[in-house]
Amino acid sequence: MDVPAGVDEDPLILVSNRGPVEYSREDGKRTAKAGHGGLVTALAGLASHLEDAVWVCAALSEEDMAVAREHDGAAFQHEGGGPGVRLRMVELDPEAQHKFYAIISNPLLWFVQHYLWDLGNTPDITRREVDAFDNGYVPVNARFADAVAEEVEARGGRATVMVQDYHLYLVPERVRDRCPEVLLHHFVHIPWPHPDAWRVLPPAMRQAVFNGVLGNDVVAFHSRRYARNFLLGCEELLGLEVDMVRLTVEVGGRTVRARHYPISVDPDELEATAASPAVADHERRLAEKRREHLILRVDRADPSKNILRGFRAFDTLLGDHPELAERVTFLALVQPSREDVEQYVEYLERIRQLVDGVNAKYGTADWQPIELSLEGDFDEVVAAYKLFDVLVVNPISDGMNLVAKEAALVNHRDGVLALSENAGAHEELGQFAVTLHPFDIQQQADAIFAALTMDGHERRDRLAASAALVREDDVAKWLRDQLCDVRELREPGH
Ligand code: F6P
Repeated sequence: MDVPAGVDEDPLILVSNRGPVEYSREDGKRTAKAGHGGLVTALAGLASHLEDAVWVCAALSEEDMAVAREHDGAAFQHEGGGPGVRLRMVELDPEAQHKFYAIISNPLLWFVQHYLWDLGNTPDITRREVDAFDNGYVPVNARFADAVAEEVEARGGRATVMVQDYHLYLVPERVRDRCPEVLLHHFVHIPWPHPDAWRVLPPAMRQAVFNGVLGNDVVAFHSRRYARNFLLGCEELLGLEVDMVRLTVEVGGRTVRARHYPISVDPDELEATAASPAVADHERRLAEKRREHLILRVDRADPSKNILRGFRAFDTLLGDHPELAERVTFLALVQPSREDVEQYVEYLERIRQLVDGVNAKYGTADWQPIELSLEGDFDEVVAAYKLFDVLVVNPISDGMNLVAKEAALVNHRDGVLALSENAGAHEELGQFAVTLHPFDIQQQADAIFAALTMDGHERRDRLAASAALVREDDVAKWLRDQLCDVRELREPGH
């Protein structure tokens, strides 16, 4: 990608919980594999083009910690990174790290931000959660902030810091305290809910979150809806002055800007993967056993993805349309996720039970209505993207959802996107998709049926328009737009 001129005159410091590589030890040998997730993939593309950048991330595995220690906690050149980017892995106290990740970040913040709590019953905020915040989230954020501040100070106090996501809300305020000259930019990759949703957190916690984020110069989201929610929260929960037209908030004599940049994918890379022999093998296997219609979903096993209601809608569809029996398969490529968090373990178990129930109800000797795979193999995912007739993306709430963008780009069968109105991607792709209401199961069943039976020309036009949009507004544009705005802020007068 082209990095806008002038941006990398300032050193860049990227900060995220997961980093670009994860080390492990197999058969006594160290191996490094690319870190997973859309955020990491998108930033790795940027990092490889920079001249002076440091990526600060957590040392997550035992082997990550060994690597961090070998470098005395300092930044080092790493496998797969460009010549101008170094990696600094922050070693965390395991107990604090568990509280930070498995109690506060997930589920507490994640569930607040995706509207997942069942407020009549959950969450209970007890001493456990308060302790996890005070002795997990706060110190881990402080460790990250101190590592960032050291890197900034080593560069004379002037740098652009790009913080990622909900794990690190307290970092910006602390970095600003130590390095007032720094430009702080924070990208929140998940939804930012309306102000009342934050009232689930006790005042001290939610104020810490907002004040931490307000240490930034720019707070960026995938959509305008989240940027507006953020400002409304500043006004209602902190009593700050906001401007909903310019999307700014005044705090402590500074102006903080809320911005929105929809993340996307790297079309060339994805198309190269789609053309690879490994994908072709999966494609042959899937094509051999497919029925007339293939419905697909690809998700992490996360309650925000609304996987259970998707299967209930399929159950309704098969009940309403017995003529579809043995002619349609719902392939669900579901990747187990956050298995150290109780809610995620239970969710995966409920998925398995529901799939068994639907298969027992409608299945025949040689037809399983739902095929559930928990492999998480990306080559298989891409093969399935090429072959689906309808892709179901029905999240309760989702920052963007890159599955919808990836699938639109590589599908070969004029497949139709069935897309939740609460996926960030709906702002761009909704016009070409069949819209799903995440809670209305009958509507989902009817919409999937409409998608399956849609006229061929219409399917082709809609898919072509979606693919063209994704190709045009790709991940390089997502990064370029942010960096251009950063450069503008760096100019005198700002
Ligand atoms: O922004 C959400 C996100 O952090 C993604 O980048 C990532 O793919 C996903 O959540 C997985 O999260 P975790 O790091 O908990 O596995």
